[in-house]
Amino acid sequence: MEETPTTETFHEEMLHSLPREKGWTDPYIYLFQHIWCRQPHIKAIISFQKHFQAKHDDIIIASLPKAGTTWLKALAFATAKRHRFIPSQNDHPLLNSNSHTLVPFFELTIYSDNNPNYVDPSTLPEPRIFGTHIPFPSLSNSIHNSNCKIIYICRNPFDTFISFWHFSNNMILSQSSQSLPTLTLEEAFERYSEGKHPFGPFWSNILGYWKASQDKPSKVLFLKYEELKADTKFELKRMAQFLDCPFTQEEESGGIIDSIIELCSFGKMKELEVNKSGKIPDRRIIENKHFFRKGEIGDWINYFSPEMTEKLSKVIEEKFDQSAWSH
Ligand code: A3P
Repeated sequence: MEETPTTETFHEEMLHSLPREKGWTDPYIYLFQHIWCRQPHIKAIISFQKHFQAKHDDIIIASLPKAGTTWLKALAFATAKRHRFIPSQNDHPLLNSNSHTLVPFFELTIYSDNNPNYVDPSTLPEPRIFGTHIPFPSLSNSIHNSNCKIIYICRNPFDTFISFWHFSNNMILSQSSQSLPTLTLEEAFERYSEGKHPFGPFWSNILGYWKASQDKPSKVLFLKYEELKADTKFELKRMAQFLDCPFTQEEESGGIIDSIIELCSFGKMKELEVNKSGKIPDRRIIENKHFFRKGEIGDWINYFSPEMTEKLSKVIEEKFDQSAWSH
């Protein structure tokens, strides 16, 4: 009699059938549902797609890694929960917890195997706020079919790449059990510009959410890191409006928008004790300090050679139809 495969052997067999490439912080990344994934993320994505039940007032913060997720999670949490937690008070949760703890990722936290940071999504207070790097088409059906809202943050691929290269090397250096060497700028760039990076290719991830924001503007809001930095107040008001909790005249004149901006600012968050010495007890230990590097626009110029600039510009030109970059 044939043995029924266990979930473990099923995943092992499936893994062997997937295209794979050299990984960034692991030996390999795999192409699963058109997404380049680290091995643990594949199982987590399957579990998320199978089990997650969206509620109509859920808020989902979506992004590519290093596009400004930490910042957007903090702004969304402070805005959506402002009636419960007053942003100017010194017991606000963002002063003691990293925004990734308050706004857990589906694939990295909630549906990740044996995660000591596990949170049962059904126990989270409403409105529930989640994070994800999973591309739009691969979100669970219940997200597509409910009225929940998605806010996507996009950052220019030059800065996103440099930020991700630094972050990956910090991950490699902090995983004592691993013997992988750190990535040179050149090899990391080669992989990024071919779209072979976690949750990539970057162009599919960005364009998927961009198109969804055009087709369903009440469901998906598409923000840009650069615009959020240039006029945080304007973008925050747009975000609150989108979430159906616009700031009132009284709130605005009372200074609540400024308090949220200050609470979530790079300078403030970077200097908090929880973000200087705290860790996220994920499957792999991540030190919170690695989420706050420079927080600037245009740092890529300090790293790119003219050839690299030409190559990435060409990729961007080829893969985007300009729509995602010009309103
Ligand atoms: P740099 O490495 O360029 O400094 P993510 O949150 O998606 O992991 O992205 C991390 C990037 O966002 C890092 O970029 C980090 O410094 C920046 N960042 C983190 N918090 C921020 C904040 N409050 N305001 C602006 N940028 C922030």
